[in-house]
Amino acid sequence: MYIGIDLGTSGVKVVLTDKAQRVLASETVKLEVSRPHEGWSEQNPEDWLAATLDAIDALAKAYPSEVSQVTGIGLSGQQHGAVLLDEKDVVLRPCLLWNDTRAEAECAVFESRFPESRAVTGNIAMPGFTAPKLIWVAAHEKDVFAKTHRVLLPKAWLRFVMTGEAIEDMSDASGTLWLDVGRRRWSEEALSATGLSLSHMPELREGSEAAGVLKPDLMRRWGMQKAPVFAGGAGDNAAGAVGLGATKPGDAFLSLGTSGVVWVTTDSYRGGAQAAIHTFCHAIPRVWHQMGVTLSAAACLAWWSRVTGMTEASLLAELPDAPDAPDAPSPVLFAPYLSGERTPHNDGAVRGGFALLSQDTTRAQMTQAVLEGVAFSFRDALEGLRKSGSEIAEASVIGGGSRSTLWVAILASVLGIPLHRLANGETGGAFGAARLARLAVTGEDVDAVCLSPERIGTVVPDTSLRRAYEIAYAGYRALYPSLNMVKAVVLESQK
Ligand code: XUL
Repeated sequence: MYIGIDLGTSGVKVVLTDKAQRVLASETVKLEVSRPHEGWSEQNPEDWLAATLDAIDALAKAYPSEVSQVTGIGLSGQQHGAVLLDEKDVVLRPCLLWNDTRAEAECAVFESRFPESRAVTGNIAMPGFTAPKLIWVAAHEKDVFAKTHRVLLPKAWLRFVMTGEAIEDMSDASGTLWLDVGRRRWSEEALSATGLSLSHMPELREGSEAAGVLKPDLMRRWGMQKAPVFAGGAGDNAAGAVGLGATKPGDAFLSLGTSGVVWVTTDSYRGGAQAAIHTFCHAIPRVWHQMGVTLSAAACLAWWSRVTGMTEASLLAELPDAPDAPDAPSPVLFAPYLSGERTPHNDGAVRGGFALLSQDTTRAQMTQAVLEGVAFSFRDALEGLRKSGSEIAEASVIGGGSRSTLWVAILASVLGIPLHRLANGETGGAFGAARLARLAVTGEDVDAVCLSPERIGTVVPDTSLRRAYEIAYAGYRALYPSLNMVKAVVLESQK
């Protein structure tokens, strides 16, 4: 038996899997995000631990005999967050999360102190990444920075409190800007550009390697016969990829979750990516990946539902559904930059917008525009990957948003590629983490374990909409420069 823990932003999800890779049970405990200032996004690490313990307690209560036989635990985690610990390993401040954009100015500071940064880390410095956050803390919270003895990503902190060992896997470590992504080791130059050294960092392991053992008190709490081994685990996208079997070069998928991702697995380190594409290690040895990230994907529909006071389901019910729809793009355009954007703009300060509203505009047209705006942002990622040497001919689609057949149909037509819908497309990171646990315990071959789930359907692009969507995409591309100009005017007026 294996346990996979996905430490997400909106909740901690834990799955229990058996020898046949069946998900026997799953528990989710919700988490809140605190936004004390515009652009800030924080969580208290203690809440992650409480949620994880609650979720596993519930599984142990409902499945005592199965949980007693757990031999491996895998972790999947929201990436990039900075958990700062003092020399007694006490958490110094709330974690600055992946979608916190306060460290915008510090990105340029990091790159000027470490000019080889892009070549070594494979990525442009972005405010969501960990290194610029530490430069921000050093500038604005000097006492906290002075006391910082250890810096851990969210799931590494969870492992630390559950096993006592400070260890991080390669895929998650790639999102710090402190990893030499080609060589799969920490970069001392990158650390020193942030005022840190190797002593602040956890040890590195591959995601499928053993990385710690559950503490005896937790083992007793859950009635386990033997202390389970932790796998190195993975950043949430890499864990999702393992769960989907996207482990071979060329495998591609789209994740339509809170944030959005266009992912492709690669056989080598491809630094020098264009259009703010990320280049990271995969969670299994000798494989890498590239991805484009839309900061607000399904989060846009959730926002629109809050604004309209309608449930997401009732908003979608106002639109005709696939396969007959859409029969034309919405006359309204939407830019999904509610928390700024990573790919392709790398701009934490830009904000979203609707355009081309008229007296005749309906709520349904605006809902369709929201779905299409997210799809256009995925198209930007696809084009960025193309420029970076990764061509995608077809892809699977996962994440909560993939439940909407209309959204998947829009994506297929906007991207111009077939999209496969999968059985259990929403189990995501937690299932991938359980697979990594199995690999760490058994040492089996990756290909034997990381099979792809069954396809429940394929949506092909509607060629009759090709021209209309090309025109709408060109309109969408024109939104960013305008929104950027508006942002500059507003920022100037606030000086
Ligand atoms: C990836 C990223 C997000 C978070 C979401 O670079 O920032 O996918 O990991 O949890």
